[in-house]
Amino acid sequence: MDVGLGGYKAIQIERSGTSVRVAMTGKGLEPVRWRNGVLEALDQTLLPARLSYVRLRSLDEVCDAIKTMKVRGAPLIGVVGAYGLGLSLKNIRTNDLAEARRQLRKYADALIQTRPTGVNLRWAVERVFNSSSHAKTVSSLKDSLESEAEAILKGELESARKIGEFGAPLLEDGDTVLTHCNAGALATVGYGTALAVVRAAVEEGKEISVIATETRPLLQGSRLTAFELAHDGIPVRIICDSAAAQVLARGLVDKVLVGADRILKTGHVTNKIGTLPIALSAKFYGVPFYAAAPFSTLDFETDPSRVVIEERDQREVLYFKGARLGPRGVEALNPAFDITPPELVSGIVTDVGVAGPPLGESLGSLAGRVLMVSR
Ligand code: MRU
Repeated sequence: MDVGLGGYKAIQIERSGTSVRVAMTGKGLEPVRWRNGVLEALDQTLLPARLSYVRLRSLDEVCDAIKTMKVRGAPLIGVVGAYGLGLSLKNIRTNDLAEARRQLRKYADALIQTRPTGVNLRWAVERVFNSSSHAKTVSSLKDSLESEAEAILKGELESARKIGEFGAPLLEDGDTVLTHCNAGALATVGYGTALAVVRAAVEEGKEISVIATETRPLLQGSRLTAFELAHDGIPVRIICDSAAAQVLARGLVDKVLVGADRILKTGHVTNKIGTLPIALSAKFYGVPFYAAAPFSTLDFETDPSRVVIEERDQREVLYFKGARLGPRGVEALNPAFDITPPELVSGIVTDVGVAGPPLGESLGSLAGRVLMVSR
């Protein structure tokens, strides 16, 4: 079945004098879509210069798109990985169901390893793999896997709306929000996580403006966050990552709001490298720091010392647009994520409610609510 994967209605804001009219218009950004058994993903490495879709027809193409960050953002990677496992069936040439599932396991592991830090990918791929146990024959695997991937996609869309709903009351009319990396429509299947909160507040008629960090080295903030907010007519300014403490010190920020790639049961928030210094500065200057993520980003198993921080290619730091900037012979470190401890986090907005301090306790009770609903 063809699915218009994600997308959301774009927001158009008209202000005249003191009145604000918010209209949902046409189509918002659609980061991924499924057509005739082919996954089409917006190539995020080309944004904002070009809106171009890359066709992903095989497991290898999906793995490559995730590794090279043509698709990125924790919930979006999860959805793409879910469909990717279905595409891996093209590599399986046996009629023996047990053997097919053994091979599928191998492909699931390969997918999970493409980006090790975010937990949504593992969660989604495991869910699709587990759905293969319902198939009675090898030929029926395709339907089981595809329908589970579709269920994950729909769930993530719904979650993003809920995050917006629960998070919007945290923002007041006139607030300026500082965000880091891209936790918007482009990181999910539409609407976003941190930016879902901003979008929902704007839809309620609040005037919200955003300060987006550039987000070195791949510039998700300036290329993606600023692009999608401008697309929706939400005011946004870009700062260098290193300017974050200064804008906080000057009182230019009312709230910090970021996404997350993995949230631990203790309330530790793993997110794009550079989040921790923002959280430290926010604490120092008394600005609330919130993270927003669906429950699929929660990892109740791991402690912070065991979170694998993805180390990416040094060339992302040493080169800019193909030209080497760092002197030859000098090496770079390129950790892609950092971990913000719960003492610095004012709250975590999820799709089932907002967890406040003590975060461990409140995340635990939200998890109980999730379990009750899913039973
Ligand atoms: O390396 P990326 O671009 O995939 O990292 C993305 C982030 O860190 C986002 O903040 C995170 O995935 C939250 S997504 C809603």
